[in-house]
This record gives sequence, structure tokens and C-alpha cells, in this order.
Amino acid sequence: MVKTIEYIDGVVRMIDQTRLPNEKVFVDCKTVEDVGHAIKTMIIRGAPAIGVAAAMGISLAADAIDAPDFDTFYEELDTKCDTLGKSRPTAVNLAWAINRMKRVTQESNALSVSDIKVRLKQEALTICEEDILANEAMGNHGQTLIESGQTVLTHCNAGALATAGFGTALGVIRAAVNAGKDIRVLANETRPFLQGARLTAWELKEDNIPVKLITDNMCGFFMRKGEVDAVVVGADRIAGNGDVANKIGTYMVAVLAQKHNIPFYVAAPVSTLDLSLSSGDDIPIEERSAEEVVTFNSKRIAPEHIDVGHPAFDITPNELVHAIITERGIARAPFTDSLKQLAGQK
Ligand code: MRU
Repeated sequence: MVKTIEYIDGVVRMIDQTRLPNEKVFVDCKTVEDVGHAIKTMIIRGAPAIGVAAAMGISLAADAIDAPDFDTFYEELDTKCDTLGKSRPTAVNLAWAINRMKRVTQESNALSVSDIKVRLKQEALTICEEDILANEAMGNHGQTLIESGQTVLTHCNAGALATAGFGTALGVIRAAVNAGKDIRVLANETRPFLQGARLTAWELKEDNIPVKLITDNMCGFFMRKGEVDAVVVGADRIAGNGDVANKIGTYMVAVLAQKHNIPFYVAAPVSTLDLSLSSGDDIPIEERSAEEVVTFNSKRIAPEHIDVGHPAFDITPNELVHAIITERGIARAPFTDSLKQLAGQK
């Protein structure tokens, strides 16, 4: 399985997801600005992977600060945190990781600046390790919902490429396969950035997990034919009431799943929960460049000067969600209670 991100000798190395599946190229980030650029341009993407990258980026930022005392150090680090935090708006894991790194810095204020830098590096590695373990735990919980012989539809990429481990939604599928179940995957291509076609299809094929690629507008066809038994997707942010922000098109899949009585599951770590928001209406939705919509494979497919909409995420209302699979267990409606309970656990 691919190693999406690692932190070695002052370098954050990540696979360049904009070049998959045609080229397997790694990018070395040596500064927090390099990491911010990688997040913005989707060299690295997927909520948990963005969180891990951000934590490592803050460690790089800390290493580059030459400050005589804690206050000067913290002030400079805080500015870098602010800038990095603006690289993408929807995945809450970005803010979650940055806030955790800031909290650790504040708690270490009695240490020397060089010891704080060591402490921050440790914390970034811990966040990475925790993500790997969370994927495994989510997989173990989630695979109990999937039976041998089933076909699972997924949207976007919530796999190894979106995390530090073996994935959230694809982690559930991998855990089911590891448990000896015979599972097939239908992967929506996920226009316009094609995470399904380029990334999900690639990583499942690499692992020899049977996958059939379809365009987004085909999923209703396959559901109506009875060829989809469950839907499992990831999430970028989950509000306190269980409304889920995920890749644009997820809402459409959830509505279709309800129409065909197919269970719709969301797999996400607790770091993706944003209980400060009471509903999905308050989740900021990233608007990406029109270029991604009007071009295909660098070729223009729409007239010049056309008005284009490109929300990169949508909100699936909680009533369409059968269960939210986390590393601490499976939450079901009413989500306001079940998510609060899971978030409060250690
Ligand atoms: O724009 P992206 O590719 O970062 O969006 C990713 C998604 O929407 C994923 O489905 C989500 O982050 C879950 S990843 C485990």
C-alpha cells in the first residue's frame, strides 16, 4: 500500500496526487510554505492527510524560527499557523491539527525553544501514528456492517491517499477484505477533479481489490439494477447534528441510496467532527477554480466566458446517514447525542 506522507530528516515527503495514476512522483516539502502550497494545489488532499501534513508543516515552521525566548517564538509560529490554516477551508482536520500543535506549544512554555521544537516534531509524528491507528479501528468497526458478497459504492477518495494509513471509507473495505469477505467496489469517478477515477481506482487496483469505475451519473442506474448493497464515503467535516460535508456529489449519492433502500455510511475519525457547529449549513464550502470544470485533461470542453459553478463539497443531511463510523465506535441517530458521547470518550 502506498505511503502517502512521511516525515524524515526535516523533510515532509508526500506522493504527488495530481500526477497519479500516470506517474508515481514524490514531493519533498522543506518549509511550511511548501506544505501550504501542497495542500492548496492538492498535491496532498483528503481531510485526515491534510491534518497530518499541517502538523508536520508546523513542525517545519518551528524549526525555521530563530527566537531568543518563548514569546517571540510563539508569536512567529502563530503567524505561520494562521497562514497555513487558510490553505483550504472545508476539511476541519486542518484547523484541528494546527490548534493541537499550538496547544502543545503553549503547554511547553517552560521548555527552551530548541526543546519545544523537538516536542513539536514528536507531536506531528504522534498525530500521524494516531491517524494510522484510527484507520485500523474504524476499519474494524465498519467492516461489521458489510457482508461477504456485497458491492460497496464509494465517492471521491477516502483511502490510503487521503490519510496516513489505509483509509477511512476504503479502510472499512480493506478491513472487510482482510476479514476474508468477498467485496466488490463501485467507484464514482468524481468530477471534476476525478479523485475516484485517478486515485480510488488506482489504489484499489494496486491492492487487487475488485473495482469497477463508473461516471457519477451512472450510480442511479446501478442502484436501480440492485447492484449496490451499501455506500461508504469519507467526510471533510461533520456537524454536531450529523450533517456531513464531503466531496461534491455525495449528497446526490445519498438521496439515490435512500430511494433504493441502500444503507449510506460515513467513515471518519473523531478529528473530522466539528461539534461547535450545530448544523451543516454553517460548514464553509470551498469554491474551486472554474478551470477544473471547463477543462478535461488540459483540453477545454466548454465555451469561453461561460459562467461556471464549482463548489468542491456538499452537505448530506443527517437523515440520509445510516451510521457514522469512527475509531471510537459507530454513531447512529440521534447524532446530536451519539457524536457528543463519542467525542467525549478517550
Ligand atoms: O478535495 P479533496 O480531494 O481533499 O476531498 C476529499 C474528500 O472529500 C474525501 O472524500 C474526504 O476528505 C474524506 S478523506 C478520508
